[in-house]
Parts: sequence; C-alpha cells; structure tokens
Amino acid sequence: MLSINTKTIVSVFAVCLAVAALWACYPKRVGPIGSEGRRLSWNEMNIDQRKAHMKRFVLPQAAELFASWRPERFAAVDCRLCHGEDARSGRFQMPTAHLPRLSGELLLGPEFEKYPETTRLKLDRLVPMMSKALGKKKFSLITRRGFGCYSCHLGPSGPMYGN
Ligand code: HEC
Ligand code: HEC
Repeated sequence: MLSINTKTIVSVFAVCLAVAALWACYPKRVGPIGSEGRRLSWNEMNIDQRKAHMKRFVLPQAAELFASWRPERFAAVDCRLCHGEDARSGRFQMPTAHLPRLSGELLLGPEFEKYPETTRLKLDRLVPMMSKALGKKKFSLITRRGFGCYSCHLGPSGPMYGN
C-alpha cells in the first residue's frame, strides 16, 4: 500500500514538474525584494527600480552584444541605444519612434530580405537576452504576444502585437 502511494505521489510530482516546465510561470521575479518580502517582477517595479535594473542587467549585456556585432559602430553605447535622445529628458517609453519602423509582418519576411544580419542577431540573441533580463515570455507566433521586435520597434502605423 505504502509503496503504491509513494509511487503515485512520485509520478504525480513528476507530471507537475513537467507541466511546470512547459508552462513556466511568467512574468518571472527578476527584480529586487519588494515590501512583501519577495522579488518583484518587471511590471511590479517602480520607475527607479526599472532604471536600476536597466543599468545593471540590460545595458551591459546589450553593449556587449552590439559591440561583438559591429565593434566600431557600437564601441560605446548608453541608454540612448534603445531609448534615443528621449533618455536625456528621462522619457523611456517603449516601443519608440527613435528606432526604425518595421514591416509588421509576422514572419519578418521584409526584414530577413533587407537586413538578414541584424534580423538574425536580434532574433537569436537580443530578444532572448532581453526577455530573460526582464523575466518576460518571448514573443510567440501563436499567441502573438510576448517580448519581441515590437517591444522596441514600432510598426508601419504604430505599436503592434499588444505593445
Ligand atoms: C537594449 C535596449 C535597451 C537599452 C540599452 C536600455 N533600455 Fe530601457 N527599456 C528597453 C525596453 C525594450 C523597455 C520596455 C520593456 C517592457 O516593458 O517590455 C525599456 C524600458 C525602460 C524603462 C521603463 C519605462 C516605463 O515606461 O516604464 C526605463 C525607466 C528604462 N527602460 C530605463 C533605461 C535606462 C536608464 C537605460 C540605460 C541605463 C536603459 N533603459 C537602457 C530597452 C533598453
Ligand atoms: C531591445 C530592443 C530591440 C529589439 C527587441 C529589437 N531591436 Fe531592432 N534595433 C534596435 C536598435 C537599438 C537598433 C539600432 C542599431 C542597429 O542598427 O541595429 C535596431 C535596428 C534595427 C534595424 C535597422 C538596421 C539598419 O541597419 O538600419 C532592423 C531592420 C531591426 N532592428 C530589426 C529588428 C527585428 C526584426 C527584431 C526582432 C527579431 C528587432 N529588431 C528587435 C533595438 C531592438
């Protein structure tokens, strides 16, 4: 009896783990400890916490990534890399018109055709790095939601895919 129960418990536990892995909880708590004694998610952070998070986790990784791609052009980058001159006046709204507008096509056909290199870099490295740093789910072709190109770039006539 006992051994069957134990087995059942073990297998239920294994199933739970598998489900948890598939449906890993987002948003992840990637921030500092909040007033309730647990880590905050990006959405729960206040503006100062977001700035600190960007400075500590996003900027260094983005700087390294862009520099490894085009060392001369991206020798020294700061918040303006993504936020543009708005960053100087403390405006960090994303997506931003400072970056080139993208086509809005779900499968990025025009981007792959015209800018294969930067599109691959973004898809393979920048988007995974950013979504991990912010604890956000990556953009999904099925739900059409999540962190992706349009978290930074605008589409032809404005924000796209829930951004
Ligand atoms: C690699 C691109 C990138 C760089 C570099 C970057 N950011 Fe950001 N930042 C983003 C993106 C993308 C968002 C939107 C995140 C989201 O909500 O999905 C954002 C959001 C923010 C927000 C929140 C804005 C709001 O309305 O809540 C602040 C504040 C911010 N960034 C500050 C900074 C600061 C300060 C720096 C420099 C230390 C910086 N960022 C560098 C990409 C960047
Ligand atoms: C975290 C913010 C961020 C995300 C996410 C992002 N980009 Fe960008 N993108 C930038 C920045 C910064 C630049 C300007 C630097 C450069 O030329 O790459 C840029 C520039 C571009 C350009 C213009 C390149 C040129 O040479 O003029 C294209 C095309 C582009 N991105 C496509 C994409 C695609 C496609 C995705 C999604 C797979 C994507 N971006 C995701 C920040 C982002």
